[in-house]
This record gives sequence, C-alpha cells and structure tokens, in this order.
Amino acid sequence: MPPYVRMGSIPRKRHIAHPQQPGFKSEGIYYEEVVTTAGFSRAYSMVYHLRPPTRVTRLGPAGTILSDFGDQPTLRDHLIKTRTMPRAGDPIEGRVVLLGNDDVTLARCRPDQPEQELFRNADADELVFVHSGRGLLQTMFGPLPFRDFDYIVIPRSTTYRLEFEPITGRVHQPPPVHQTFEAPGFVVCTFAPRMLDTDPEAIKVPYAHSNVQADEVLYYVRGRFGSRRGVEEASFTLHPRGIPHGPHPGTIAASKDARSTDELAVMVDTIRPLQLTRRAMQQDDPSYPLSWID
Ligand SMILES: [Fe+2]
Repeated sequence: MPPYVRMGSIPRKRHIAHPQQPGFKSEGIYYEEVVTTAGFSRAYSMVYHLRPPTRVTRLGPAGTILSDFGDQPTLRDHLIKTRTMPRAGDPIEGRVVLLGNDDVTLARCRPDQPEQELFRNADADELVFVHSGRGLLQTMFGPLPFRDFDYIVIPRSTTYRLEFEPITGRVHQPPPVHQTFEAPGFVVCTFAPRMLDTDPEAIKVPYAHSNVQADEVLYYVRGRFGSRRGVEEASFTLHPRGIPHGPHPGTIAASKDARSTDELAVMVDTIRPLQLTRRAMQQDDPSYPLSWID
C-alpha cells in the first residue's frame, strides 16, 4: 500500500462528490482529477479543482527549448563557464541547454524575471538545482518554498509557476549530506561540505579514474574545489568516457593537511554519451583538456 499525503480539503472517500457552494456554474462541487503514471495500477494523486480541468479556451504552440547540438569530432574534456552568462528570460524560456542525450538535457538558467505563465512539461520530469536565490514554486499540488542549494523535483505534467527572487547570499550552510537522484539513463549526486579522510597516508583529493561506460558532468556551485585548478563557480566540466581524469597537478600536495572541504558541486553521470550544444561550445575553454600538464 503506497503512503498517501493529504493536503487541503478532500471528500470523505475517493470518487464521491466533494461539495463546494456555489461551485462552478452552480454545480456545487469541486472537480476531481486522477493523476496517474502508468494506467491506474500504481500510486496516483487525486486533485480537486474549482473548475473542470478539461476546459481548453485557446490553442497555441507549446514553445521549444533550443538544443542545437554541434559536431564534435574530437573526444576531449570540456570546461564550460556560465558564471557571467547574461541574465535573460524567465525560469522556463531562460533555460540555455548545454548538454544532452536521449535520456537527459542539462541546462543553465539565469532568469531576470519570474515565470509569466503557468507551465507544464508533458515530456519529462524536471530536477532544478537552485544555485542562488529563493522563491516559491506554485503547483497544482500546493506551494513549495525554496532557497539556494535546494533541489526541486517537478514530476512531469505538474502545472507550475516558479516565482523567483534572485537574492544572492551565503548566509546559511547547506545540509552536510549527500543527496542522490536516480533516473533512467543517469544519476545525480551532490558533493557537499564534509570532513576529509583522517588516515595519515590518505590522499585527500579523488584518484584519477576512467568512467568506461559513463559520461561525467560536474557543476561547481560554491567553495574551493580541491582537485581542480582554474575552475570557477558556475562552471560545468564534462569528462567523457574513454579519457582518464583526476586531480590537477599540485592539488594532491596542496590538500595534504586539509581536514575538511567546503566545496559544493552537483554531478550527473549519464549512461549514454552527452552532446554539446553550439552555445556550450561558445563558452568552452579550449585549454582545459591540456590543463593536467605542469
Ligand atoms: Fe570524475
């Protein structure tokens, strides 16, 4: 039996009249909508509307998110800088797709205005990582306040609006836990501030590694990134399969006496190879693949 969460007013039992006076067109009820994932066989949500959710008043294009993938003849590491990307658009239209494959699309968004209209994504679940700022996610399931360093999971076909206040600041510490999401074709991990290994012979930065069957993306959020040189906040790195990568020269010795790290980064590992959009290529540092040479 799946656990159910109740929010707001619901009827005594499901699928019966939920009275409301006078109601839409004096029908005297709230209108039930059953939101399912795969038929009616799994856990589902029941939502009660003021008006029937089936009423369509206007038709128009759904809009597109530009994902213009470019040619990539060279297998190489990438460093895509987005810290100074111009602010533009709202939390939907302002998304700039940088990487993608058949399972996942990765975008950076620096909105300069709140979402103008209600939106729903019928094709994909959305996972938003809030780098800085706070606001309110308004959804058909209720409101959800958020602040910097929060993840927001928005299941597909949820109608929502992101009221975003781009207030920057560093007044709170993120929770010292790793959070992990798993989805078909990729996983999301969080590298949060933490204590480092205590063994006197420990090497405090990650060892070099080859992901032979995964592409690895890191988004650098905050802090000093112990294993990297020259990587600023709000940068993406892409380490594709087939190329070993690891700590930059000098970082092993530099971290020898470190007891903790304040770095915060989000990692996405994908099973299918990722492609770069032309926009990502414009912001890509061509010297990065050669940066492991002293
Ligand atoms: Fe890695």
